[in-house]
Amino acid sequence: MRALKEKGFSADKIVENGNKFLIGNGYLGYRGTLDEFTAKECVGLNIAGLYDGVKGKWRETVNAFNPFFCVISLCGVPLDVRRKETFSHEAELDLERGVFRRETKFLVGKAHITLFSERFVSAAEPDLLCSRIRLTSDMDATFSVKAGIDPEIWDLNGPHFSHVESACHGGRAEVKGETQELHIPVRVVCDFSEPLQNFQGGLGEFSVRLKAGETFTLDRVARVLVGKKHFSGRDYEGAYEAHVREWERLFLLARLDAKGDDRAQFALDYSIYHLLILAPKGRYSIAARGLSGQTYKGAVFWDTEIFLLPFYMEVLPACAKRLIEYRIDTLPAAREKAKSYGYGGAFYAWESQNGFDACSDFNVTDVFTHRPVRTYFKDKQIHISADVAYAILRYFERTKDDDLMLEGGLETILSCAEFARTYSYYNHIKGRYELLDVIGPDEYHERVNNNAYTNYMFYFTAKEGLALAEEFAKKYPARFKEVLCHLPEGILQNLKEWTEKLYLLKPNAEGVIEQFDGYFRLEDVRVEEVRSRLRHPNEYWGGSGGVATATRVIKQADLITLFNLYPDRFSEEVRRANYDFYLPYTEHGSSLSRCSYAIAACGIGRREEAYTALLESAEIDLRGGGKQWAGEIYIGGTHPAASGGAWIAATRGLGFERKGDLK
Ligand code: BGC
Repeated sequence: MRALKEKGFSADKIVENGNKFLIGNGYLGYRGTLDEFTAKECVGLNIAGLYDGVKGKWRETVNAFNPFFCVISLCGVPLDVRRKETFSHEAELDLERGVFRRETKFLVGKAHITLFSERFVSAAEPDLLCSRIRLTSDMDATFSVKAGIDPEIWDLNGPHFSHVESACHGGRAEVKGETQELHIPVRVVCDFSEPLQNFQGGLGEFSVRLKAGETFTLDRVARVLVGKKHFSGRDYEGAYEAHVREWERLFLLARLDAKGDDRAQFALDYSIYHLLILAPKGRYSIAARGLSGQTYKGAVFWDTEIFLLPFYMEVLPACAKRLIEYRIDTLPAAREKAKSYGYGGAFYAWESQNGFDACSDFNVTDVFTHRPVRTYFKDKQIHISADVAYAILRYFERTKDDDLMLEGGLETILSCAEFARTYSYYNHIKGRYELLDVIGPDEYHERVNNNAYTNYMFYFTAKEGLALAEEFAKKYPARFKEVLCHLPEGILQNLKEWTEKLYLLKPNAEGVIEQFDGYFRLEDVRVEEVRSRLRHPNEYWGGSGGVATATRVIKQADLITLFNLYPDRFSEEVRRANYDFYLPYTEHGSSLSRCSYAIAACGIGRREEAYTALLESAEIDLRGGGKQWAGEIYIGGTHPAASGGAWIAATRGLGFERKGDLK
């Protein structure tokens, strides 16, 4: 069995393990916490695509009430992993079946007690999650059990529910509430295999008499019902079988063969596990921290298009289509955003919540003054629109789905290009269009001019968009005319002229392309030197006063990402020169960075370097740790883009192939 196992318990690892042992099905994510834990230990049942904002706080995804809370006590001693009565503990994430298990042994008085529980979020039914507890004792004993649906929710910017009510009839309990902002009803209904008594505030109790050696089993079958959905009961065994059947199918379908390399095999299995638990079930997309919580407001970033989409295109094309449709569906919001800044076309949300830009003007808090710092990610990270267009282009290249292109795809691509055109400035002296005042992928250098990644990406967007427009005009003249109706007059001609004059930064004598105008003039120091200048471990490196701002040190792969997306447009010599130049300046302060260098290293024949970077990326959530704070803002959680990027490097660069029948 391929499983992640961890023996022993450490209170310091509660949050980390919540991420590491996460289970999910693309719609719901349940953190890898324990039955006896509560909101204090960051128990989280995260719902994809459901957002709520509480006045004065950030809008974020909603966590549901917790149906798996359960504390069992003997003689007043709770079987809680943190108590001194615990003498062994093991947690396990079964990657092949998508099941989390824990087994904890306690010694209470003279009784040896084993508490086992397993849980899964159904791969077969999006709103279903189930758990089974088994309790044994080597002495006759009477246990008291407190179980139910815990209405206390771990929120970063909550509480998100008002009108919370609970009810229970025999073994069926329910807690319901309404989201504060949009008044969306959310109910968690759970069938307990044992009737709950003295039910109050979501929780009830009962007692269990066990004879020595006997096992008591408590099954919990729950659904998270958003809107007006109905509850339908399900037996645990049946739900388990259906889940495992579907999960095994998915896992076998997706697995890669790491050619006998156990470490790489496990790291990739684990990454693929995380990609599978995020595969969307509806027309929503994947949040940057997946379903591990509300970090980054549960919003969708460019991570999805650039780092995740390739996996889904290859393994689960229907999911890839949903990711694309999500962007097409949110085109009106992107147009609105462009308009609000005075531009044409489509400017996608930097942090998209169903199209709405959740990125705040002050995305970082200064650790010294505790004052919010003005950041310009939302306003200036315009490359997001090129990333969206790129994803649609690649999706079309692979699927040749003409209908999708005619029903929004092409319009989106051209609107993204049009946005950049209207954003650009014509430099009369130099006779070229420039993209001024932007932020590239490297967020430490804000408001720079002509970020090479951004300029090239929009150039390719426009070029490829125009070529497709030509193709579709010939193939489907009538339908293409309809597409044009939704676009500004003269767009094709305007874009054509624009691409001819858009400034594209060229390699210097050493083959290096300057990341943006003036980058080479910045202080030439390496990452370690800049790190040594920090006065606080959580200090933000970028922004106006950051330690990296006036230096060449960059947060993450910037230009290198461009080469990964368009390798054939740059010679190997140029790609190598830039790789060698930028790597020592890269802090890898984003989980998107290592995998980008892994992919790039593959492309220049540096297999060993690629392999090391691939493992660093694929093992990011196994290792835990990582950056948990940006200034005073919590940014912990899982790192789907690192898993997706590792998958790209493994398949496209290192040649690991999919083997549907791996044992
Ligand atoms: C990175 C972005 C990324 C975001 C979400 C930030 O730290 O700089 O490139 O999209 O995290 O993963």
